[in-house]
Formats: sequence, C-alpha cells, structure tokens
Amino acid sequence: MDIFAHRGVSINYPENTMAAFQAASKLPIAGIELDVHLTADKEVVVIHDETINRTSNGSGYVKDFTLQQLRTFDFGSWFSPEFGDETIPTLGEVLELFAGTNHRINIELKTDIISYEGIEALVLKEVAAQQMTERVIISSFNHESLQTVSKIAPYIESAALFAEVLVDFTSYIALIPAKALHVSLPTSFRKSVKLALAEGATVRVYTVNDQRDARYLQQLGIQAIFTDDPEKILQALN
Ligand code: G3P
Ligand code: MG
Repeated sequence: MDIFAHRGVSINYPENTMAAFQAASKLPIAGIELDVHLTADKEVVVIHDETINRTSNGSGYVKDFTLQQLRTFDFGSWFSPEFGDETIPTLGEVLELFAGTNHRINIELKTDIISYEGIEALVLKEVAAQQMTERVIISSFNHESLQTVSKIAPYIESAALFAEVLVDFTSYIALIPAKALHVSLPTSFRKSVKLALAEGATVRVYTVNDQRDARYLQQLGIQAIFTDDPEKILQALN
C-alpha cells in the first residue's frame, strides 16, 4: 500500500511549506499531497485554508492578496518558532523540488468554497511545464472542477474526494469522469468502499495517522493512504 505525506510531513513541520515537502522528498514513500488556491494576481499557491489566518502571522483571504503580498507573511512560526523563515510556496516551487525524485504529487484543488475561475487550466499548465503529467494526481471535493480537468487533460489521473458515503462509488466516478476515489477514514470502513474495491476501483484514504488503521486498510486492499506522519506508518507496514 502506498503512502502519501499529507500536506508534506505535517506532523513535524508546518503543513504545506517547503520544509514539510523537503522532509517528504527524502523518504521512501510514494508521494505527497498538497492543497492549492489562487492569489489575486492568478498565481497558484500551496495552502490548505481559504484564508491565511490559521497558518501565518497575517489575516485575510488568499484571493485578496498578490503573491508578493503573501510572501511578506511568516507561515512557520504558528507551528514552531524555528520555522519563522517559511513563506507560502507556489505550486511551481513544490513541483521543482520533486523534479529529481520519483514521488507522485497529489494536487488537491480547493475549489469547493471559492471556485477560483481558471485554476484548473493554470495548474495543468504548471504540471505540463515541469513535465510531471504522469506523476500527478489531481483531486477535489468539487467534482465540477474535476470535470473541467477532464475536459482539458483527459489523460491525467484525477480523483474525486468524498467525505460522505455513496451507495455506488464506481458508477458515480465514471460519470465525472474521475479515475480514482479518495475517501475519509470513517467512509473507508463502509461496505460501499469494499464494493468499489471489488469492482476494481482505485481507492485512497485520508487521513490515516494510526498504525492499526494503516494495517487494516492494507489488508482491505486499499491502494494508498494519506498520513501526516509517514515515518510512523512506514514502520507499521514494514
Ligand atoms: O486530499 C486528502 C485530504 O487532504 C482532504 O482533506 O481537508 O485535509 O484537504 P483536507
Ligand atoms: Mg488536502
């Protein structure tokens, strides 16, 4: 079963920062997951929330700042003072970091609250520029966003995120169309997910930080998990 570092190695480093991704790039894991939003000047930046309030020393919406303005904030001290030099990364910077590794990059489009007109095309352009099309997975809770991705780049691996249970995941993702389903840990225990696996679906589960859960999901035949603590999960599975 593959392991993806969720927002980088976010157990030991501030989430979605270069420090968290650098740590992940050194681990023998399948890949990383990151979240993207769009700035006022249409730069794709890596951050989980719509606002910078929780993970920086500033406040306000990402969409209202230019990249240059966002760069003035400290995105590490909220986690620990030693990370005071961390700034908000662009998607391009993170892709570049992984240019020399074989890690997969799961880019989660955070378009479920703010739609960020055009973000799908901008993300795909950066992925193509870095020649990482084969290594990328594009996911979103906003399945309309995935439809846009599929229209622009039908060849790219896309994944529908679910916090809830559907009785027929396989038929639903075929409608989008998306290639995989990413389900929450509680959802992964439901019989609909077992059915999807039996039907040949690719299923990845977020966010798995417990070693027993990881072992159970491996036995279930889940293809990958997202974890904040990849080293702990590596130990559990080896
Ligand atoms: O992509 C998996 C997971 O990251 C989805 O939830 O809120 O952690 O972005 P969230
Ligand atoms: Mg995410």
